Amino acid sequence: MITLPNSLRDKLKRSDQLHLLQYWDELKDSEQAGLLGQLQAIDWDLVANLAAGGVSDIKNKIDFEELEPPRAFRSDDADADWTVAEAIEAGTSAIKAGTVAVVMVAGGQGTRLGFEHPKGMYPIGPVSSRTLFQIFIDRIKATGQRFGVSIPLYLMTSDATHRETKDYFEANRFFGLPNDLVTIFKQGTMPAVDVATGRCLLASPSSLALSPDGHGGTLAALQQNGCLDDAERRGVKHLAYIQVDNPLAQLCDPAFLGHHLISKSEMTTQVVKKRHPLERVGNVVRIGDEVHIVEYSDLPDELAFQKGDDGQLRLWAGNIAVHWFELSFLKQSLLRADTLPYHRAIKKVSCLDSRGRLVEPATPNAVKFERFIFDLLPHAKHASVVESDPRDSFAPVKNAAGAETDTAELAQVAMCDLHRSWLAEAGVVVSDGVKVEISPHFALDSLELGNKVVPGKTITEDCFFG
Ligand code: UD1
Repeated sequence: MITLPNSLRDKLKRSDQLHLLQYWDELKDSEQAGLLGQLQAIDWDLVANLAAGGVSDIKNKIDFEELEPPRAFRSDDADADWTVAEAIEAGTSAIKAGTVAVVMVAGGQGTRLGFEHPKGMYPIGPVSSRTLFQIFIDRIKATGQRFGVSIPLYLMTSDATHRETKDYFEANRFFGLPNDLVTIFKQGTMPAVDVATGRCLLASPSSLALSPDGHGGTLAALQQNGCLDDAERRGVKHLAYIQVDNPLAQLCDPAFLGHHLISKSEMTTQVVKKRHPLERVGNVVRIGDEVHIVEYSDLPDELAFQKGDDGQLRLWAGNIAVHWFELSFLKQSLLRADTLPYHRAIKKVSCLDSRGRLVEPATPNAVKFERFIFDLLPHAKHASVVESDPRDSFAPVKNAAGAETDTAELAQVAMCDLHRSWLAEAGVVVSDGVKVEISPHFALDSLELGNKVVPGKTITEDCFFG
C-alpha cells in the first residue's frame, strides 16, 4: 500500500477532485504508483483555472472587425524587396552551413482517418506505398545529401502513438538515417474534465482520462527532452516545423527558408489560397503588425465569405501548418509561461460513470485542453508569411475514404499530379490514368529531374522513380 502525500490530497480537495481517489484502497501497489504519478504530474491550479473558464476564448480576445489579410511573399515570385534567386541563395547557404533541423509533429490520433496505427505509418505512396514517415525521412536524407550536411529530426509523438512509432523506426533501422540524428519524444498530456462539473474524468479506477496537450505542447516537450539544447550543440539555428499528415509539405525548401532569413523573421508561416470560404484550415490574418491564426471554427461566416475589390476572398490565406522557427525565439518563448494559451475542445471521452462502469458517451461529455503552436506567431518580434502553390505544398490526409475532401486518395492524386507536372516540364509525357511517383532520392524538384530523364519519352505504365 502506497501512502498518498497529504499535500497532494489537500490539493485535490481544494480543486474538488477528491473523487479521483475513490478506488485508491482497492488498487494494487503498481496501480497506485501509476495513479500517483499521474496526479503528481498535473498542475492542479492550472486545471482549476482552465475548468473555471480561464482559457483562450478567441471570440473575447479578438475584435473581428480588425482582421486584415496578411502581407505575404510569394515563394516563386519576388513580391518583396529581394528576388527569389536571392532567397534561394540565402536558404541554400544556411542549409549548407548545417544550421537547420526538422521538427515533425505526429502525436495526433488520426481518429477521422479511421487508421488504427500512428498516421505516419499510413502507406501513402501512390505507386510505392511508402508510408508518410518514409517519405519524410527520404526527403530529409536526400536534402542532406544534396547539400552535404546531416539534418537532425525531432519527432514528436504522444502516449497514443509513441510505442508503435518507436518500434516502427527501430524495426526499419531508422530508414537509413543515422539514429543519433533522430530523437523521438513524447508530448505532454492534459486531463479531460466533465463538461458540466469541471471535475476530471477517470478512464479506469487507476487512470485519469488523459489526452495530448495539443501541438502547442511541442515547445515544452522539445525543452523537457533536451532537443533545444541538442539542436544548439549541433549548431542548428533554424527549425523547420511540419505536420506528419501532409505528404507534400516542402521540407527545408531553400526559397521558403531564404524569405524567412532575409525578412529577419523569428517565425515564418507558409500559406495557400483557401479553396473555398469554409475550408477547414486556419485563417492566417493580420491584426495591426501582428500575424495571428484564427481557426476555421472561430471565424464568423460573414467574414469567411467576404470578398475584396478583386472579387477574391478577403481573408484568403489558409494555414498549412508549415513553419520556420528561429531556435533563439523558441528558447525565449519558454521563458514566458503565458506565451501559449489553452483552447478548449468539447469532445466525446469514454470514462467511468458514478457506478464505476466504463461508458462510451453518445454526445460530447468532456472538455479537452490544447495548446496550438501557431499562437506563438503574435509573440514574434517579426513574423513573415510566405504564399505557396497548394499543388506543390499541400495535400492533407485527414478524412476516411469517401469523404469529399482531405482523404488519402485525394492526396495520392495530388502527389501524382505534381510529379506528372515535373515530368512534363522535363519533356516526358505520362499517358492518361497512369500513376507516377518520384522518390526524393531520384529528384527533389523538377530541375533535378530534368537532368535525369530523357525528353521525348512516354510513360504508359505506373512508374516509381526510386
Ligand atoms: C490543423 C490546424 C489548421 C490547419 C490544418 C492544416 C490546428 C488547431 N489546426 O488542423 O489550422 O489549417 O492543420 O492541415 O492545429 N498533433 C500532435 N499533437 C496533438 C494534436 C495534433 O502532434 O496534441 C499533430 C497531429 O499529429 C497532426 C497535426 O498536429 O499532424 C494536426 O492536428 P489535427 O488535429 O489533425 O489538426 P486539424 O484540425 O486538421
